[in-house]
Amino acid sequence: MKINYSEKFIKKDGVLLIPVFEGETFKNFISFLDLAILKEHIADLTASKEFEAKNGQSIFLYKISKNLPDKIIVVGMGAKKKMSVATVMSGLGAGVKASIAHGTQSLSILFHDSLQEFSQSVSESIVLASYLPGIKYKTGEALEKLVGQSIQEVNVFGEFSAEQKSSFEKGAIIAAATNDVRDWVNAPPNYAHTSFFEARAKEIAKLPCVSLKILEKSKLEKMHMGAFLGVNKGSDVEAKMVVLEYSPKNPVNETPLVLVGKGILFDTGGVNLKPSGHIEDMQLDKAGAATVMATLRVLALIKYPRKVVAIAPFTDNSIGPKAMRPSEIVTAYTGKTIEVLNTDGEGRLILADAVAYGVDVYKPELLIDVATLTGACMIALGERHAGLFTNDEDLMEKLYKAGQDTDEILWRMPIHQDDADKMKGTIADFRNSDTGTSRLAGASKGASFIREFVGETPWAHLDIAGPAYVADPKKYESKGATGFGVRVITRFLEDLV
Ligand code: BES
Ligand code: MN
Ligand code: ZN
Repeated sequence: MKINYSEKFIKKDGVLLIPVFEGETFKNFISFLDLAILKEHIADLTASKEFEAKNGQSIFLYKISKNLPDKIIVVGMGAKKKMSVATVMSGLGAGVKASIAHGTQSLSILFHDSLQEFSQSVSESIVLASYLPGIKYKTGEALEKLVGQSIQEVNVFGEFSAEQKSSFEKGAIIAAATNDVRDWVNAPPNYAHTSFFEARAKEIAKLPCVSLKILEKSKLEKMHMGAFLGVNKGSDVEAKMVVLEYSPKNPVNETPLVLVGKGILFDTGGVNLKPSGHIEDMQLDKAGAATVMATLRVLALIKYPRKVVAIAPFTDNSIGPKAMRPSEIVTAYTGKTIEVLNTDGEGRLILADAVAYGVDVYKPELLIDVATLTGACMIALGERHAGLFTNDEDLMEKLYKAGQDTDEILWRMPIHQDDADKMKGTIADFRNSDTGTSRLAGASKGASFIREFVGETPWAHLDIAGPAYVADPKKYESKGATGFGVRVITRFLEDLV
């Protein structure tokens, strides 16, 4: 997608998107637009209560003036007083979706005064809302239609400073990476398998200051990652761990920051097979891994000034004669033993080894893991909030703030020691699932299990099972994968320096 900036020129083809706030008089609009006629239209519509500029409300105007593009969408942004990242993104998201419905490869947007402090959210909304999930798989006429709707060019009209322009560009980078995560997560396991992610990792490693290690199965065996390898036993494809290191020249701090993401390419549940109704979307189970890889790409592109490592363990959780059976005891990278009471608790097993590796090898200042870990977290928080679990108050506050600032909301969840105690093993050190009270506090128990393998390092666990993949998308999302996590983690890291 190409972005053009201009103060003077109005492109005649494509759709012009005009965001309008409730009760707005247009006095802030820039003079070059032939707005008299537009004002008239909107005044009429407002008088008739047809258009009140409620957030997300849109109207389509066609050929109203020779000096304006033929197709214009006026989109409501709601009350200016209530303006936030969330309202800007949902208003513009709705406007972009309405523009796309009129089939355009070129979108122009009037970037007027009120939006200037939200420059980054403006470009994020445009890029995120123009994501078309079907374009990878449809054929024939359906594909042609989608190609006609895929935005190639964005023209921003208005007055902006160099700083606003660079925020706008940063937003486009972050949103493009988020759309990559959506593609990767939506992709079924016969399209996106281990080798697919290896290829994506190699692409990212071409960026300046990024290097890549791929830990193959033989290496994982030598390092005694028995928990990760246990999950991989039933899979036809060997486990791999992607380790991307971003190491800028002259970092402001030598101590790295580590991100770890759950990369289950498809979660059948294993021998504890998931039933119909619960298994269909389980290609989503690699969302954490996709998120940390794409975030590392963003950091390299925006030249983030600190060292960051993204660790992504990849395997299927499959069923078959070689698959791990409930009751098996595996030995983790730390040397601790785990009774696998439920093979569907596979995420915590692969993360146990991945976080322990991250702590051991990189001795980071902090570690964040991102995972579609539990159905319980989705039941507790729904699709709008990710669960935030941590052993560090400072980290809690900073992550919470970054969530509020990016409309990727993280909600604090507890880990009661009594729940954590339920993850102690009967004959081994730990167990991967509780019995008896197993349905209670499932998200907290999953988090407490991972905590056991982190040790003293400040750590946060983001359970993104709800917001990573949605049935009821926000205005700037589509059904399915959302790419949740890239924005909040990037913002958190930026605030850290
Ligand atoms: N991948 C699932 C969690 C999940 C469920 C994510 C629905 C998104 C939507 C995870 O591996 C899982 O199966 N968790 C179990 C844990 C239990 C067996 C200890 C769960 O949540 O029931
Ligand atoms: Mn599972
Ligand atoms: Zn899973």
